[in-house]
Amino acid sequence: MKTITCTAPVNIAVIKYWGKRDEKIILPLNDSISFTLNQDEMCARTTVAVSPSFTEDRFWLNGNSYCSVLFAVFLLLVYSIVLSRAYISVRRRASKRKLEGSIEDILNWHVHICSVNNFPTAAGLASSAAGYACLVYALGQVYGVEGDLSSIARQGSGSACRSIYGGLVRWYKGELDDGTDSVAQPIAPPDHFPNLRIIICVANAGRKKTGSTDGMRQTVQTSRLMEYRVKESVVTRTEAMMEAIQDKNWSTFCDLTIADSNEMHAVCLDTFPPCVYMTDTSHAVASLVHQYNEVKIARGDLNHKVCYTFDAGPNACLFVPGAVVKEVLALLLRTFPPGPSQSPTEYVKGIPAQSATLSK
Ligand code: ADP
Ligand code: DP6
Ligand code: CO
Repeated sequence: MKTITCTAPVNIAVIKYWGKRDEKIILPLNDSISFTLNQDEMCARTTVAVSPSFTEDRFWLNGNSYCSVLFAVFLLLVYSIVLSRAYISVRRRASKRKLEGSIEDILNWHVHICSVNNFPTAAGLASSAAGYACLVYALGQVYGVEGDLSSIARQGSGSACRSIYGGLVRWYKGELDDGTDSVAQPIAPPDHFPNLRIIICVANAGRKKTGSTDGMRQTVQTSRLMEYRVKESVVTRTEAMMEAIQDKNWSTFCDLTIADSNEMHAVCLDTFPPCVYMTDTSHAVASLVHQYNEVKIARGDLNHKVCYTFDAGPNACLFVPGAVVKEVLALLLRTFPPGPSQSPTEYVKGIPAQSATLSK
């Protein structure tokens, strides 16, 4: 029996991936840029075990088995389609290498996979990114796969390819049909903006109604606004974001991050039927950030602006300069006192956006 346990962090996109040009091998319609979080805070932890005594492949997510429970058969199908893509890719690569006898045996053994997220799953906090990055990394360790894992992780969940690297990461959409140039690459280290903190405000930890995969498919099929995003606005914004990052221009980084989040949610609303991810609470957090920034702008204190971004869910991710973290947390807690209602500060957490890499 061989067992490996790995953890992988989530990443939060500041230029969003929303929409595929190839659903099978997951090729996106546009480049995206993200920040990988410190994995001690929000991560997936996955154990992969292979043994000659296992009689079937099994998978557990957050303690739920997707093999033995009958009603989960349907779910298993959904999972296994995506899961097996990543799994088979890793196995295929392993079998291409010159293998020692023992590894050849391992390739024929059944696998048990057990994964737990230490944060809400499918709530718009990038669980699929951490989950598939971790799965592919762990499988790679078991089968001794070397080389670019990001392109395999991409085929589990697009955003997962960015979690393979720490710091600021760009996923290039690529031009080729086989996806070989659709890869993630680190563009700046975790401490590029020193002392940057990320505050996650959980307005609702429940599963979203429409998962990212379905939501973006419906957007591509029905939204005219999406055509404008893909052909024009996101292309220009991505280049402006690269420049802001290179120049360490925090104020512009904030404006572009907010603009791209708002545009993604605008195309979601332009989808037919609309995909509504943000709630009144989400909008209240966004307004608070704008009010806060107006005060900073009036004082000429642009380096202490704050920005928000929302994935496909109601929960806000705030990028906050270290010097104002206390002030911003106090403001959030005053505006949204923790209580029985859906308060985004119930699970508020200050997360250092630092030193995020995959580890065993
Ligand atoms: P999120 O916003 O959390 O990324 P998605 O709709 O993109 O939500 O993806 C949620 C799905 O990702 C889950 O239903 C599950 O299929 C998969 N997933 C989440 N966490 C893991 C994990 N740790 N290991 C494997 N798959 C996972
Ligand atoms: C809003 O990577 O979860 O988080 O590729 O279908 O698995 P699939 O989708 P997923 O989509 C992420 C969408 C997003 C924006 C982003 O992370 O870039
Ligand atoms: Co996701």
